Amino acid sequence: MNIILIGPPGAGKGTQARILEEERGMVQLSTGDMLREARTSGTELGKKVADIMDSGGLVTDDIVVGLIDEKLQSVNGDGFIFDGFPRTLTQAAALDDLLKANKKELGAVVEMQVDDDALVARITARSTCANCGEVYNDITRPIPDDGRCSTCGASDFRRRADDNEESLRTRLMEYYKKTAPLIGYYFHAGLLKPVNGLGEIDDVKGEIAASLGA
Ligand code: AP5
Ligand code: MG
Repeated sequence: MNIILIGPPGAGKGTQARILEEERGMVQLSTGDMLREARTSGTELGKKVADIMDSGGLVTDDIVVGLIDEKLQSVNGDGFIFDGFPRTLTQAAALDDLLKANKKELGAVVEMQVDDDALVARITARSTCANCGEVYNDITRPIPDDGRCSTCGASDFRRRADDNEESLRTRLMEYYKKTAPLIGYYFHAGLLKPVNGLGEIDDVKGEIAASLGA
């Protein structure tokens, strides 16, 4: 099954996508991760998007649609998890076309609902393994005592440049203005599954499983 995880910054999309990958063999397609990877490797694309990402704005639709198009043609898996894509109605229409062209369908759109206060607290406490991308949180999911990533054993952890209050304000505004309309779009398509994203990571995982019917 191919699914979308939709929700504001810090809702837990990446955290739950990695769990779904591990437990169900699905493949996470995070446009945010792809763009950060382009920046780390110093590509022209990475340089082009750096300032926009750090400020919390959205990069252009053609860039992210191009990234997803490339992945859909080159990656195989037991279902895709679209994480942070689509984020505009234009991207949603493009995804419909891409799925059709690749003879794939969307099974569900999971809307992760978390209130703004919790988002600020989560984001300002987040760190990520620089090697494998595992997501940690100073309060709710601390880095293990030995200072090594529980997934890959690396000991280098990063904070994201856009994880500060000012960028977060812009990211939230972008979400409510440009991404929230997709909730109506997918409700109308009969695909929307709202989930309470405020519980513990395991509880949210259970809610998502129930919403997917498994
Ligand atoms: P992106 O990387 O997608 O960032 P985002 O949408 O802002 O979402 P985050 O990754 O910040 O949050 P998340 O929901 O994944 O939460 P996480 O699981 O990490 O995009 C970054 C930028 O790239 C954009 O601003 C834009 O510039 C550009 N971009 C990307 N895609 C684009 C597109 N399609 N179009 C245009 N531009 C695009 O969790 C957060 C924290 O909370 C962690 O510390 C985690 O441990 C903790 N946590 C998770 N779940 C729980 C829980 N249940 N309880 C307690 N803590 C929890
Ligand atoms: Mg994420």
